[in-house]
Amino acid sequence: MTTILDKKNDPQSYLDDSDPELDEDAKTILTQYSGVPEAELVSHVRAVRDKAFKLFPYPCIGLYYFMGLTIGKSPQYPDVLRRVKNGDTLLDLGCCFAQDLRRLVFDGAPAENLTGTELEKGFLDIGYELFKDKEKFHASLIAGDFFEPISGLAEHSFDIVHAASFFHLFSWDEQVETVSTALRLLKPKRGSMLFGRQTGVEEASVLKHPATRSGEMYRHSPESWKVLLVQVTQKLGIDADYEVVGYEGGKQRTANAYSLMRFTVVLK
Ligand SMILES: C[S@@+](CC[C@H](N)C(=O)[O-])C[C@H]1O[C@@H](n2cnc3c(N)ncnc32)[C@H](O)[C@@H]1O
Repeated sequence: MTTILDKKNDPQSYLDDSDPELDEDAKTILTQYSGVPEAELVSHVRAVRDKAFKLFPYPCIGLYYFMGLTIGKSPQYPDVLRRVKNGDTLLDLGCCFAQDLRRLVFDGAPAENLTGTELEKGFLDIGYELFKDKEKFHASLIAGDFFEPISGLAEHSFDIVHAASFFHLFSWDEQVETVSTALRLLKPKRGSMLFGRQTGVEEASVLKHPATRSGEMYRHSPESWKVLLVQVTQKLGIDADYEVVGYEGGKQRTANAYSLMRFTVVLK
């Protein structure tokens, strides 16, 4: 186990100086769903990004990752979309601008089956600016700290919980706590699923980072993340199938840091 003091944890190093490179998914949703004129796409996204980065300088904001609408690029997406269209409920943890929920709605998922939860209410508000949909986006967005009981959340349970770039923000113990809470929010039935994507490195390490909740983030390898998932589910008495897959992706900002992994925990 290594402990890394990330010399690049100066937040400004994550503010991309250039304009966003929007892929077809991003362009399509912003033009067809939000009505942003093609010629204004880049300036619109950049202006919203700048405003949000001042609120909290997450790399995924500074580097425009939020426009990746990554839920739609996961292998589980066709099945998730089909399930939500057929009535399953989905919760997105640390949803930021709720961009992944917009992707689902754009693809035909009923908004009433969708909930997002987010620490920074300002990000939820900026989401309406980004997608220009204050009047028409009716998913339930709840501001609150996932480490505390969140009013409007604890009394619900969900068929699917999604978490992208969320658990990796925390220390090992905090991840145990947040994964436990996420699993307890699942309906206790066969097929309920926790899935998502986050940083995945070759060798697990603790990253000291002053801007995090406890001053450190536990950066998992696919193997160590599976160990944590198995430990937590077993402690909760949950029988599940697990899949954790590492893959290349993201921009290489720090050594051994911007590879990714996706994961699913499916209740048996
Ligand atoms: C790195 S961003 C990822 C956002 C989005 N899921 C994505 O894939 O782009 C992590 C998000 O989690 C939120 N967050 C951090 N700590 C949280 C907490 N304790 N409770 C709820 N949300 C939290 C942050 O405000 C931020 O929007």
